[in-house]
Amino acid sequence: MALWGGRFTQESSALFKLFNDSLPIDYRLLEQDVVGSIAWAEAIHQVGVLTPQECTDLKQALQQILDEVGDDPQQIVATGAEDIHSYVEQALIAKVGDLGKKLHTGRSRNDQVATDLKLWCKKQGAYLSELMTTLVAGLLEVAEREVDAVMPGYTHLQRAQPVTFGHWCLAYVEMVERDLTRLQDALKRLDTCPLGCGALAGTAYPIDRQALAKSLGFTQATTNSLDSVSDRDHVIELCSAASISMMHLSRMAEDMIFFNSGEADFIQLNDNVTSGSSLMPQKKNPDALELIRGKTGRVYGSLVGILTTMKALPLAYNKDMQEDKEGLFDVVDSWGICLEMAILVLDGLKVNRANALASAQQGYANATELADYLVAKGMPFREAHHVVGEVVVKAIADKVALEDMPLAQLQSYSEVIGDDVYQHLTIEACLEKRDVLGGTAVNQVKQAIAAKK
Ligand code: ARG
Repeated sequence: MALWGGRFTQESSALFKLFNDSLPIDYRLLEQDVVGSIAWAEAIHQVGVLTPQECTDLKQALQQILDEVGDDPQQIVATGAEDIHSYVEQALIAKVGDLGKKLHTGRSRNDQVATDLKLWCKKQGAYLSELMTTLVAGLLEVAEREVDAVMPGYTHLQRAQPVTFGHWCLAYVEMVERDLTRLQDALKRLDTCPLGCGALAGTAYPIDRQALAKSLGFTQATTNSLDSVSDRDHVIELCSAASISMMHLSRMAEDMIFFNSGEADFIQLNDNVTSGSSLMPQKKNPDALELIRGKTGRVYGSLVGILTTMKALPLAYNKDMQEDKEGLFDVVDSWGICLEMAILVLDGLKVNRANALASAQQGYANATELADYLVAKGMPFREAHHVVGEVVVKAIADKVALEDMPLAQLQSYSEVIGDDVYQHLTIEACLEKRDVLGGTAVNQVKQAIAAKK
């Protein structure tokens, strides 16, 4: 039976019930709904609504409801209750009879669902923070191991200048660290408890809302009842933090998909995160990485979805807001599993050092070095840039590397070039010169790794 049957003389249509019920989605809030209800029982006991014995009995019964369901809350969907709050109340009445009907005194599903969802966000936030910390540790481990593995760095997907694999790892460390601060910032802001705001205007019982908030692990109570029941900023902020983080994971995935391609062949993915083709026996596809890249789209979709749902909703609660959960749950699930997968992929990653180095040696990745050499000999950079451009055209035509061009030929482009030029054109020289804060020199990368650790 619905919680609100008294006002109605006709049954809901089956289609309306299917359309309106949210238990198939919000059963995932069972733990939070029970924990919130236990705190509420205590709060209304404090103001004399429940006797000490009634309070104890309600709390015990609520705990039993949670314990009986164990780790498979989805089983409660079969009860056909309207939503998680209705389910818990029905289960409570089934256990303690009329006493169960007292629990909702002074409370609304509006402050209840807002509280449940914030509690859920806090729990998931802790799990996601841990995953991001593990991912950073994984990246640092690979960075340390591959601190001097050379590969081409790209701009416009054209070989640009050599970098080390360790340096590449540290780029993603920066991104994941920023993502973590974004998540933690959102968690800090959502750490206020809406319980005791009633349907919209505040509860009519003299509840100590600060004590109630603290008992649920929140830093403090929310301060405006209209806002409290209609605020879903935390859902939007988590979806937004997730979208940015997924964008980074997707770029990392895309880099590795390319590095793993036959064309680049800089890395080798472990068998345990790849799959084969049903037709082409030679294939080993980077599915894990492609799915990380692919799931980024649905996370963005949920962000746009909740933003659009909330747009132009009048204060305070509206049923539109029931649509907040499906997207958020999917975002958190997708984000979590993609972080876990990224950790796993990195764990089994092998760098094909010889191939990556050979590739860095081709493609004129040391052309900037030749220009810098001319600058050191007194030529203005713009002129040096032009001269080296001409040298590169010739080198491409002759299919030789810059360092393999005879001195006399180099000198035909500029007489300032001496035989000391060759030592500036080695990969080692290219890397070592970039020994400034943030640079790819092995020494810098080592320092950066140490600083992160
Ligand atoms: N299932 C609802 C939701 O998720 C709970 C709040 C219902 N409130 C109401 N006034 N009908 O938003």
